[in-house]
Formats: sequence, structure tokens, C-alpha cells
Amino acid sequence: MPGGEARAADALAAATDSFSAVGIETPRLDAELLLAELAGTDRATLIVDRDLTLEPSVARAFSEAVRRRLRREPVAYILGSRGFRHIELLVDRRVLIPRPETEMLVELALEVGPTEVLEIGTGSGAIALAVADELPDSRVVATDVSDGALEVAIANARRLGLGERVEFRLGSLPEGSARFDLILANLPYVPDSDGLPPEVGQWEPEGALFGGPDGTDVIAEVLVGIGAAGIEAPVIGLEIGQGQGERVAAMLRASGWPETEVRLDLAGIDRVVVGRRSRPGVDA
Ligand SMILES: C[S@@+](CC[C@H](N)C(=O)[O-])C[C@H]1O[C@@H](n2cnc3c(N)ncnc32)[C@H](O)[C@@H]1O
Repeated sequence: MPGGEARAADALAAATDSFSAVGIETPRLDAELLLAELAGTDRATLIVDRDLTLEPSVARAFSEAVRRRLRREPVAYILGSRGFRHIELLVDRRVLIPRPETEMLVELALEVGPTEVLEIGTGSGAIALAVADELPDSRVVATDVSDGALEVAIANARRLGLGERVEFRLGSLPEGSARFDLILANLPYVPDSDGLPPEVGQWEPEGALFGGPDGTDVIAEVLVGIGAAGIEAPVIGLEIGQGQGERVAAMLRASGWPETEVRLDLAGIDRVVVGRRSRPGVDA
């Protein structure tokens, strides 16, 4: 190769082999995502252009990215960002990497068409910022108990130009009673004893993952807090994990949302519980 330039195809093949050897689930895809971003191109070009060569600086950056991925660091942390709905979010180890199934909560917001939204446990700000982005008349209050997470969320809001309509607050719930049109939350719901892939268990924040022995402790605490604070909303949507649908639906009914519905994700797993109640004098 003239000038010692590396061929993209060779670099990809070598990275894919080394990722496979350590048991990474999607070795070729991960190698393509990393190289496409670092080379400033797209995956289709990498696949089609067999003669593409890499600038030495790109080849070095790719070697470093491969080294990090071999330690099972998630691709999104290595690249520093992840797409969610129509927005790109900065992510690092202070926040959970937004998952595609969480988009179901944004879809619920589009169905409800709220003006005032409360999001509890905002992490990177994914849900709050996607709702503000897709519902231009909405205002969102978003909370998190992690100050590191809120720093990331605030940086994302500024970058996306959504800071005017999304207000971030440290803590579980906003202070005092308040009325919202919709409450959304993707709280930690992994049962404490669940084994997780290294990418999750070793890299993502523990406080974003685990929810007690059966995974529903944080959800239960937050529902009690909502009632105690006098926070009201006619609709609530909670993300949940496998097998938690009926348990969390019962919690919502006991917390004053008598109509409940469990929605499944594309894999057929309980993923969102929606609770509804009438607002006296408004919906009744
Ligand atoms: C599963 S992550 C979800 C992050 C983001 N909403 C998303 O969907 O990608 C849960 C988030 O809730 C926060 N959290 C944990 N317990 C909480 C509580 N009691 N009240 C508010 N936030 C909490 C964590 O710090 C974490 O950022």
C-alpha cells in the first residue's frame, strides 16, 4: 500500500475478527459503525468501496476505538453520541445509553398531545428532549437524582436548542404539588440479581439500572412520592422490563390511575404500562 496507508476493508476484517474472538455480539456492525464515524463516511461506502484507504490519523483513531471496544466499552460511549428519534444525544458513562424501545414513551406523548409534561429519571434527556422536539407547544420538567446525568442532559438541551422549553431539576420529583398533562418515566427496573452483558453491567451507571429484588422498587417509591407530593396527571407511562407488566399495572391502579394497559415491544416483551384517570371537571 503506497505511503503505508491501511485499506479500510483490511482494518474492518481485522477488527471484526478480534471482536468475535472476545464474544462481542455484533462484531462486523460495531467495526463498521466505529470506522464510518471516524473516517467521516457512511457504512454503505465502507462496504461498497473495497479500495478505500484510511488516512494515518483515521487508522490510529480506529485502532484506539477497537482497543476500547475490546474492553467491552459500548460503541455509543466510544463515539460519544447516540441517535434517539430525530435527535442526536451526547452520551458518556454518567448516563444510560438511550434504547430504541424507550421511543415507545415518546410515541405515547404524541398520542396524548400534552402541553405540560413531567419526565422522571431523564438521564441523557432523551425522552424529555425528543418530546420537546416533536411537540413544539409542549413544556417539559425533567428530573434526575444524578447530578452527573443532569449535566449531560443540560448540555444536550443547549446543543439542540431546546433549553427554553425543558427545565431540569435535581431530585426525584419537582417540589410542591403540580398538574401535568402527562408523566413519563423510564426508571431503573433491572432485578438486582440479573446478570447483564459486560457492556451494560461494567459500563453503564448502576443507579440507572437496578430496581431492587424484583426490579420494581424504584417505580414503587416514585409512585408513592407522586401521591404524597400531590402531583397530578391524567395519563402516566412507565417503561418496564420483562414480566413486570401486571405488577406495575396493579401499582398504577392502586396509585389512582384506574385504567391500565400493558404495551409490548417488538420482541413481544412487556415494555410500557400506561395508566389513565379522568381529571375532575376537565375530562369527566
Ligand atoms: C433507566 S435510566 C433512563 C434514562 C433516560 N430517561 C432514558 O430513557 O434513556 C434511569 C434514570 O433514572 C435516574 N433515577 C434513578 N432513581 C431515580 C429516582 N428515584 N428519581 C428520579 N430519577 C431516578 C437515574 O439516575 C437514571 O438517570
